Amino acid sequence: MQNSTRTTVILGTGGTIAGTAEQAQDNVGYKAAQLGVAQLMEAVAAPGRVETEQVAQVDSKDMDHVLWQALAHRVAFHLARDEVGAIVITHGTDTMEETAYFLHRVLAPTKPVVMTAAMRPASALLSDGPQNLRDALALSATPGARGVLVVMAQQVFAAPGLRKAHSYRLDALSGGDAGPLARIEEGRLRRFRKWPDGAALGMAAVQRPVESWPRVEIVLSHAGADGRLVDALLREPPQGIVVAGTGNGTVHVQLQAALQRAVASGVAVRRCTRCAAGTVIGGDAEGLLSLGELSPAQARVALLLELLAARA
Ligand code: SIN
Repeated sequence: MQNSTRTTVILGTGGTIAGTAEQAQDNVGYKAAQLGVAQLMEAVAAPGRVETEQVAQVDSKDMDHVLWQALAHRVAFHLARDEVGAIVITHGTDTMEETAYFLHRVLAPTKPVVMTAAMRPASALLSDGPQNLRDALALSATPGARGVLVVMAQQVFAAPGLRKAHSYRLDALSGGDAGPLARIEEGRLRRFRKWPDGAALGMAAVQRPVESWPRVEIVLSHAGADGRLVDALLREPPQGIVVAGTGNGTVHVQLQAALQRAVASGVAVRRCTRCAAGTVIGGDAEGLLSLGELSPAQARVALLLELLAARA
């Protein structure tokens, strides 16, 4: 079946794309997650058959593991339906990089799962949501499209390496050094690289009750980082710590010593860079394994999933 003759399921989770302000001129003083996904779809002429489902209604700053688990379940359920060609997810931009990476690693779908968002609320005079949603629908109907993809401001990104890079601009998302995987121009895709792939961890890895998921914290290396934060964490130790290192993933000597104490007490410690782009090049300094190009937020998801998979 061609994608365009199959059903596209639109899952709503909230975000600014579903937000409203009192004034149409107000692009920032709004409440996120106010309109239902069915209402958002009224603003776009969807080609083909669509179904909508409201999975959640949150400002994505409040995203949590319970919602991730529920969302992964609904995505997996719809992906397994023969008549479903693609899934579109409306989401907030603030934690988009985390949810996209989570779904990518757990499901690695062979159908398109296209996430989209907006920087201006639905009530804005010049809202970006409807265009982003239209582009997400166009991408989801593109023959051969696959994997977790994120569309915003005419750019298409793969999940790994995605970051929210700007607090205000409409093109708030960045694919890091790799840049966008494709662009959508007037509903047509101009693709630069292959579709994302990878091995799915599978739903079994994230099936257990969320209360029993490992706790993974993020600490930042910075001038004067003396490691006391890590020592405080060790009073009620998490299972994992990600350190957002300076430059090439380097860590303040005192913080490094505290992290080595954490490793010695059984905590899994991984490092990444706090830089806005680039990767950690070279070996695993001082026994701290690196998570390469992942942002600190994505590195936390990677370590969480690594620890979950180890227990499965
Ligand atoms: C959110 O992340 O839910 C609010 C901000 C946004 O969508 O841009």
